[in-house]
Amino acid sequence: MMDFKNKTVAVTGAVGSIGSAIVRRFASLGANVAICDLRNTEGLADELKKEGCNAAAFNFDITSREDVEKGFAEIAKTFGRLDGLVNNAGINVGPDERKTIEAFSDIWWDRIFSVDMTGTFNCSKAAIPLMNKGGSIVNISSIVGLVPMRNQCAFAAAKAGVANLTKAMALELAPKEIRVNCIAPGSVGMELTYKLWQDENAMKGLLAHIPMGRQAKADEIAGPVVFLCSDMASYMTGAVVPVDGGWTAGGYARNF
Ligand SMILES: NC(=O)c1ccc[n+]([C@@H]2O[C@H](COP(=O)([O-])OP(=O)(O)OC[C@H]3O[C@@H](n4cnc5c(N)ncnc54)[C@H](O)[C@@H]3O)[C@@H](O)[C@H]2O)c1
Repeated sequence: MMDFKNKTVAVTGAVGSIGSAIVRRFASLGANVAICDLRNTEGLADELKKEGCNAAAFNFDITSREDVEKGFAEIAKTFGRLDGLVNNAGINVGPDERKTIEAFSDIWWDRIFSVDMTGTFNCSKAAIPLMNKGGSIVNISSIVGLVPMRNQCAFAAAKAGVANLTKAMALELAPKEIRVNCIAPGSVGMELTYKLWQDENAMKGLLAHIPMGRQAKADEIAGPVVFLCSDMASYMTGAVVPVDGGWTAGGYARNF
């Protein structure tokens, strides 16, 4: 049984589709939750407080070292220490900006690296000193970081970086009893990509890659994240776990 009573976890990108599902899962298991996002986090924190969860809202930009340090100092003031960190905040280009490398926007390249990679580095650096009796970090990559797709070069490179950063951190932090693992989600049904998946052909093309024949629900990503953070995964560190309905298991779209 997973139990997070008297444990505190911080989740970045906490009001997004996957982030809010992760936060709700932790809250349901009794964790104190630091809800961190660029966007307004008060609403989700208030909702969870009404349900009896010890939740608190923190607003900061994970690309800014200064803001991250201030944010985690506030978390320390509120909760004292951290047992878990989920580096979930991440961005990608939308369908209109998906271009081959020659045409790929310099601005989007920098933006994606600063959120997905540098943001993960910044938050981990600030959280580690708050885990002085051991802890668990879960980084969120993507299957695009494992098997790249065309026209998303920045996301593919940054998320591959997140997966390998996970392993580097796992090696360094094992002596401090801090485990570091990574979840690589497949395609998750969500509002931002909703327009794209309204296109019947696009959806058909997508589903052809997924042995389970459907997109994930955000909560189906949250479950494995919470498991990796929990004591049930006490001997796991440095793992990169695809949660993708079988997408990366093999060449499923080919029937020859
Ligand atoms: N949705 C998918 O299909 C999918 C697939 C693979 C991987 N992922 C990854 O899962 C994670 C969550 O994705 P999602 O689908 O929930 O996205 P989302 O857009 O719903 O949520 C992302 C959250 O991150 C926050 N954020 C963005 N930039 C930030 C910054 N600079 N500082 C602080 N917060 C910031 C946003 O405000 C937002 O609330 C991301 O890392 C994403 O790359 C998603």
